[in-house]
Amino acid sequence: EGMLFPERPLEGCHALVTAGPTHEPIDPVRVIANRSSGKQGFAIAAALARLGARVTLVSGPVSLATPPGVARVDVETAREMLDACLAALPAEIAVCVAAVADWRVESEAAGKIKKDADGPPVLRLVENPDILATLARPGPQRPRLVIGFAAETDHLLEHAAAKRVRKGADWLVANSVGAGSGVFGGDTNAVTLLTATGTDSWPALPKDEVAGRLAARIASALSGALS
Ligand code: CTP
Ligand code: CA
Repeated sequence: EGMLFPERPLEGCHALVTAGPTHEPIDPVRVIANRSSGKQGFAIAAALARLGARVTLVSGPVSLATPPGVARVDVETAREMLDACLAALPAEIAVCVAAVADWRVESEAAGKIKKDADGPPVLRLVENPDILATLARPGPQRPRLVIGFAAETDHLLEHAAAKRVRKGADWLVANSVGAGSGVFGGDTNAVTLLTATGTDSWPALPKDEVAGRLAARIASALSGALS
């Protein structure tokens, strides 16, 4: 019956999703960036919206259309992404899919750095804020369900399990990157979902099916927690 299996189980929920890379300026024409198409994050935003959530999608620079029913906030840097996320709270759900640059240069050059006889510039890097860890920190604004993603090249499950705990995330979606896995820019993704109680490995699926499964799982977790 309709009350038990509503078509829009996330009606009334606000979901915050980060997606894409961040770009950290070196000078007016150069950046430090990560590889990320934004496809997986955009697919998750779309899937949550289909289930009735109000979705805020905070996106780094990508070339993707905004999914229907999603409110998009475009940012460039990690610090802008963090500010946009904090401004979007409160939210019941936070899904951090963005490939945030871990470092930025300590001070951006005001003008274009020129090649000259002194040789290549030495860049001094400083660490960016951790958006996932910030959102997951205990407090009145903490979303009920905070979910991270991790792409790892080796020791996938060990690294992912440690990362879930270190960042304070409820769930972590782990995927293996490396030759042929096609995570970056590809259309399929083979992921393992890690929660406090166990792991669940999904077969390689199109990114929008990964998104659909994750959104369904979010809906059932929240309905369990709320009922
Ligand atoms: N993340 C974030 N802000 C950062 C870095 C990462 O929100 N400054 C989020 C990502 O969106 C992802 C999760 O944290 O959901 C894991 O990112 P990852 O780069 O794997 O974690 P790091 O702690 O940066 O570890 P690593 O040294 O492996 O890069
Ligand atoms: Ca990182």
